[in-house]
Amino acid sequence: MTPTLAASALRVPHSRIRELAEIAMSMDGVLKLYFGESNLPTPEYIKRAAQKAMADGYTFYTENAGLPSLRKSLARYYQELHGVELDPASEIVITASGVQALNVGIRCVIDPGDEGLVLTPAWPNGAANVAMANGTPIEVPHPLIGDRYQIDFAALEAAVTPRTRMLLYTSPSNPLGWVATVDEQRRLLEFARRHKLWLIADEVYERLNYTGAKPTTPVPTILKLATRDDAVIVVQSFSKMYCMTGWRLGWLVARRDLAARATQLNEFIVSHAPSFGQRAAETALLWGENTMCEMLVRLKENRDFCLAALAKMPGITVPKPDGAFYLFPKIAGATDSFDFCKRLLMETKVGLAPGVAFGAGGEGSVRICYAAERNILEEAMARLAMFLK
Ligand SMILES: Cc1ncc(COP(=O)(O)O)c(C=O)c1O
Repeated sequence: MTPTLAASALRVPHSRIRELAEIAMSMDGVLKLYFGESNLPTPEYIKRAAQKAMADGYTFYTENAGLPSLRKSLARYYQELHGVELDPASEIVITASGVQALNVGIRCVIDPGDEGLVLTPAWPNGAANVAMANGTPIEVPHPLIGDRYQIDFAALEAAVTPRTRMLLYTSPSNPLGWVATVDEQRRLLEFARRHKLWLIADEVYERLNYTGAKPTTPVPTILKLATRDDAVIVVQSFSKMYCMTGWRLGWLVARRDLAARATQLNEFIVSHAPSFGQRAAETALLWGENTMCEMLVRLKENRDFCLAALAKMPGITVPKPDGAFYLFPKIAGATDSFDFCKRLLMETKVGLAPGVAFGAGGEGSVRICYAAERNILEEAMARLAMFLK
């Protein structure tokens, strides 16, 4: 008998965004709006900082929790941006991406057979990581009520069982663009405390906020409400805010015992994030505000352009998102969003992500990432309108 693959590995679902993307990648001239990344390259000053770091000898192993200097820079970032005090030595862990922060954080709280609540529609990697830790993701719908997505606290209460260990939410949300209010965060924290759950807040889009006083005003962080003894994990990343998706750099902030354990597990997963990238990330934190501001002004214009274009199309309902860089329109009559996206791709070369990829409540919608150049968005909206007709 040939050895078989572990059932636990086979249970992990594949990403339906990737499935669509793989078809698109085999074609020429596709307008790619399916992945969650900006078309902007990493700013030059960050690239130069990485080159300098390499020349300066940042080519060796670092601490499992990341360079102490980068953790100090992040503590300063939280202090300046949110007025939150963190101990860089014990509460911040640098990871090789946001998804790795999610992976190690979830690995620290889920035992085989445990359950993890995930507000959905959501980026699929959270639920997949619960499955990878041999747990069971339980999707709790995050419904659209009127023109705003609202947390269904009654559904959350009903989903708790003796095996429930965590609740994951994402604000700003991918794919909804929903932003948790301070009051919603307070209720989530109270819910987690009462049921003795870990509250995992994915805040990778925190700077992509269209409702702040300034373009770079962040959305509220859960760290502002939580005490340092609360069972809270914040997942973060340099990918979206600094156009560094390919660098694989992120971090997590957590209660000391979890941060220490995540640091220890990191040794066996990736050991640490790349040394020169970590050094360049310090430069990004120091000098990134101006380029981020320019990007946000452009993103807001893109959002408004796409919203206006979608409003003219038949059978489309789309709430106005407050954050991130996605629109998640519902398409009347589209009962199989993967099939819809595949046909759209084949017939018009517009690549969107199927709503079904985002779990319960996502079917019937598509996700449009509007962090592309304006001429690409214009062409994509024109072709989508034609297709829908
Ligand atoms: C909600 C959410 N969290 C985390 C990530 C992870 O980003 P990265 O692994 O590039 O840091 C993404 C990327 O799409 C995301 O959408």
